[in-house]
Amino acid sequence: METTQDFIKTNEKRFIDELIDLLKIPSISADSKYSKDVARAAEFIKAKLEAAGADKVEISPTKGHPIVYGEKIIDPKLPTIIVYGHYDVQPVDPVNLWDSPPFEPVVKDGKIYARGSCDDKGQVYMHIKAFEGMMKTKSLPCNVRFMIEGEEEVGSSNLGTWVKENASRLKGDVILISDTSIIANDTPSIDVGLRGLSYVEVEVTGPNRDLHSGVYGGAVANPIQVLCRMITSLKDKDNHITIPGFYDDVVELSKSEREELNRTPFSLDDYKKDLAIDEVEGETGFTTVERTGIRPTVELNGIWGGYTGEGSKTVLPSKAYAKISMRLVPNQSSDKITELFTNHFKKIAPASVKVKVTPHHGGEPVVTPTDSIAFKAASKAMEETFGKKPIPTRGGGSIPIVALFEKELGLKSVLMGFGLDSDLIHSPNEHYGIFNYMKGIQTIPLFFKYFTEMSSAK
Ligand code: BES
Ligand code: MN
Ligand code: MN
Repeated sequence: METTQDFIKTNEKRFIDELIDLLKIPSISADSKYSKDVARAAEFIKAKLEAAGADKVEISPTKGHPIVYGEKIIDPKLPTIIVYGHYDVQPVDPVNLWDSPPFEPVVKDGKIYARGSCDDKGQVYMHIKAFEGMMKTKSLPCNVRFMIEGEEEVGSSNLGTWVKENASRLKGDVILISDTSIIANDTPSIDVGLRGLSYVEVEVTGPNRDLHSGVYGGAVANPIQVLCRMITSLKDKDNHITIPGFYDDVVELSKSEREELNRTPFSLDDYKKDLAIDEVEGETGFTTVERTGIRPTVELNGIWGGYTGEGSKTVLPSKAYAKISMRLVPNQSSDKITELFTNHFKKIAPASVKVKVTPHHGGEPVVTPTDSIAFKAASKAMEETFGKKPIPTRGGGSIPIVALFEKELGLKSVLMGFGLDSDLIHSPNEHYGIFNYMKGIQTIPLFFKYFTEMSSAK
């Protein structure tokens, strides 16, 4: 019988063509205009799971976008791997900065350009094709459940409820997720930590209506200027966050842990060149790898108000707005940080304005173990396909559901991602290397194999 790896090689072209079909569906979860397309992407995933040989495949409705579930239980005594991923994607704007339309995938220089190609449709589809490969070559070594959601990019709040309600049928041994990056194609790595998130929207109101900026200017608080002042004060000259209590629960790493983290291959010059910046900026006393991996931050994601149309309009606006995210590290709590922020932001507001803070979604930070069977299996699988042992790294992004899986199911995750930080996820011209896509499809069956072998040997 053909080996799984041979099957994968033979079917490369079809695997790419099928992913391209999935990428044509604009499954933007944040925008209700695309709800039907999000549902269409769920149907696509369902059909492909069924075709690959999964049982009990269903589209589970939620208050928001549906979850696709499927399983293959070959023997209840064998280990069970739960594969998680998301088929929803980020909005595409500014769409004029794309070199080709975001939902008309193009293959160029060995990369597939489309929204969702890397985050996370491409990485989800690797799992479906790896599963198909194992089924077709009769080499699936253990049980598997798939849980592919459509709301990761908007906070996964309905998946949390669904996981609680379906905990009894989610029996498994580990959660396997491909939704992160490796350091480089010749430097494999596995994320062993993700930052948490607290996300708020603020509204600052000055006068009760927009005013003539000449008639009133200089005598009435301008909410945009007040908001800017307030935001600027959130960090001091060392880029230390000034919100009282913000750092109280931050776990400081030991000197040796920091030394190890800083041994991660990283070129500051390449980093700056890639971003076309002359200098980096961040918290004094920490390296770039530490600033994104083990330190929390406050970032302004958007700010608006007043007149931004063509030409000029002399106006002293009534309101100003901003969207602000805080990335968190162990053991900060998203709810607690949101509360600290809210109290602080209201407190620093001058009497000339009113402030409203609306919390959006959040998520808890996580660290995943490196001494587990799952991590060792992932490491061994990647070592075999890349020819190099993967380096444990800390990811700066967030996948809020990871902490929830731990809390609700008692299960740890393995973050075996195959993207690159330069794949432009969430940005125009997102792409995913065919090298990375195929590497993922080749590595996943090896993870299944080693995880099963190592579990039975324990
Ligand atoms: N896949 C990313 C998270 C990620 C990317 C982690 C790269 C590590 C490395 C995920 O889809 C994502 O974008 N998450 C959001 C959080 C969500 C609540 C909107 C994020 O990190 O901003
Ligand atoms: Mn993702
Ligand atoms: Mn994302």
